[in-house]
Amino acid sequence: MLVGNPMNAQQLEVCEVQGLNASRIPRHVAIIMDGNGRWAEERGESRVFGHMHGVEAVRLSVEAAMELGVRHLTLYAFSTENWNRPKEEVAALMNLLVDTLVKEVRELGNKGVRLRTIGDIAALPEICQTQLKEAESATKQNEGLDLILALSYSSKWEMVEAIKQLIDSGISPEKVTAECVSDHLSTKGIPDPELMIRTSGEHRISNFLLWQLAYAEFHFTPTLWPDFKKASFFDAVRDFQNRERRFGGLLDTNHNVTVK
Ligand code: IPE
Ligand code: IPE
Ligand code: MG
Repeated sequence: MLVGNPMNAQQLEVCEVQGLNASRIPRHVAIIMDGNGRWAEERGESRVFGHMHGVEAVRLSVEAAMELGVRHLTLYAFSTENWNRPKEEVAALMNLLVDTLVKEVRELGNKGVRLRTIGDIAALPEICQTQLKEAESATKQNEGLDLILALSYSSKWEMVEAIKQLIDSGISPEKVTAECVSDHLSTKGIPDPELMIRTSGEHRISNFLLWQLAYAEFHFTPTLWPDFKKASFFDAVRDFQNRERRFGGLLDTNHNVTVK
């Protein structure tokens, strides 16, 4: 693992079966879950039908992440820009969030998942905020996997908030560092994702974690989100493990980055 908890025997076995290097499992994976609408349209169904089927892919991704010992999984569930969708679709997505939280929180808790959120949570309907708070507090002791839902989230929104906080704090310009900016983002304390997955064949990041993805490896797959399975997650990690990460440095003969 890049850093993090030591792997248990089951996780080591999954790595072996999947042909993955247990010492190079990303600590933090971020996913842009895209393609629900197209998946439904292909079946002559409403877009909401696609969102409902996307929930299963969330469950499978959480399981796959835990099977590999990934520590943080951030899922882009609703962007600031998604408020521009028809109000019926927005309402259906909010209802789906509440229903899923009600149904799944106990199970998530039993699995050792800690639920967290990033984004403009105050912009969500009251009922969503209440359910999220309950789910966060019910799972806050768990140490298996941090499941971070990005809701009403956009990177530009987050950065503007960080800048406002910094100005408010009265910090002098020479004291502003990259660490201090990170500490004012909603991901404070969470390591940056090493791997970002986007489904549905789109090759863009749609205002997601612009700062935090500075050195992430990107895995784009044409698979539509409701078709995303555990095997798709393992494929993405395999792809990640085949990348050479240089961070602007050079590799020595052992393929380690040389840093002065
Ligand atoms: C992703 O699927 C889910 C959300 C953005 C909430 P989409 O709804 O964007 O599906 P497509 O991209 O239209 O197929
Ligand atoms: C990105 O998907 C947002 C989420 C997955 C929540 P979109 O479907 O909204 O992104 P664009 O509009 O194709 O860039
Ligand atoms: Mg989309």
